[in-house]
Amino acid sequence: MYKRIILPILFRFDAETIHHTVTTVLKLALSIPGVSTLCQKLYVINDPRLARTVFGLTFPNPVGMAAGFDKNAEMVSELSDLGFGFVEIGTVTPRPQPGNPRPRLFRLKADGGLINRMGFNNKGVSVATAKLQYFGKNKGERRVIVGGNIGKNKDTPNEDALTDYLISFRELFAAVDYFVVNVSSPNTPGLRDLQEREPLTKILTALQQENNRQSIPKPILLKIAPDLTNGQLDDIVGIVAETKISGVVATNTTISRDRLLTDSDTVSQLGAGGVSGRPLRDRSTEVIRYLHQQSGGAFPIIGVGGIFSPEDAQEKLRAGASLVQVYTSFIYEGPGLAKRINQKLLQDL
Ligand code: FNR
Repeated sequence: MYKRIILPILFRFDAETIHHTVTTVLKLALSIPGVSTLCQKLYVINDPRLARTVFGLTFPNPVGMAAGFDKNAEMVSELSDLGFGFVEIGTVTPRPQPGNPRPRLFRLKADGGLINRMGFNNKGVSVATAKLQYFGKNKGERRVIVGGNIGKNKDTPNEDALTDYLISFRELFAAVDYFVVNVSSPNTPGLRDLQEREPLTKILTALQQENNRQSIPKPILLKIAPDLTNGQLDDIVGIVAETKISGVVATNTTISRDRLLTDSDTVSQLGAGGVSGRPLRDRSTEVIRYLHQQSGGAFPIIGVGGIFSPEDAQEKLRAGASLVQVYTSFIYEGPGLAKRINQKLLQDL
């Protein structure tokens, strides 16, 4: 029903407008007494065999919502009602920022993909922290795990990036279960230069020092781009070992326009941005496999990129991921995918 009836209607409107409309409607609907319970009955599979303990946290199931969908931590409870075992909020930056001018989100229908150049539009770390504190108080029986994805403001020069990461880390610390350091978005100028060995080691070392000052440190992960070379991935394996961070999220969107079915003129007219969804699937799996093999499975990997089916999720898990996340398929496939992946995982036990 979603793909045949709802999707064609949604796809008549601008992609970003629809995102806001759908999230508002979801929030409203789920605030009606009884609807949240109904949704949980429809979408949540409560089965202890789905639980995964990864970097010291117990996830109720291994399927999460990737960063960027819930930038301001407004949808955690709703996404948990839809069967997600964890939600990565953000990317948040210390100060609120509007992001790039619209339009900045485009569908590649023929490819099952999206191009986005949102540019970390978010309300700032304090707003997300307040939302999460409110959610925490009302969490009840929910076991959803929350990750905090942190980035730097656009107008913060790379030399001062560490200060931005530290501000968000400190502010969010009590409100999230784990952190993701995002240096891989293609939409903040120069951000990906921070993936180079020297600046990355500096940022992760300082965050770990801050982390170790806390009575109970939290897992810190690094989110990487799919466009890194094998040499750069080897560096990442070394940096994870050296800085003793807890793992890697692989991958963010790609700047590559290879292997797209949408014609190249249309694609080039859409302009800059990161491609997500089906066109990213195989490259992201390759990166996961490479990191897993080169590190000898030394650290957990959250696999993300083009998961549209339970089989896609299994492929990522077999390549070495311990958990998976989705974003683009939530738009193309509707809200049932987390449940279908979990059902398949149980079937295959
Ligand atoms: C993203 N993604 C993303 N990642 C991140 O670390 N911080 C962010 O703010 C965003 N924002 C964002 C916005 C939009 C519109 C999209 C489509 C994606 C990347 C996302 O988390 C994920 O890594 C990729 O989209 C690949 O997964 P899918 O979409 O192919 O399942």
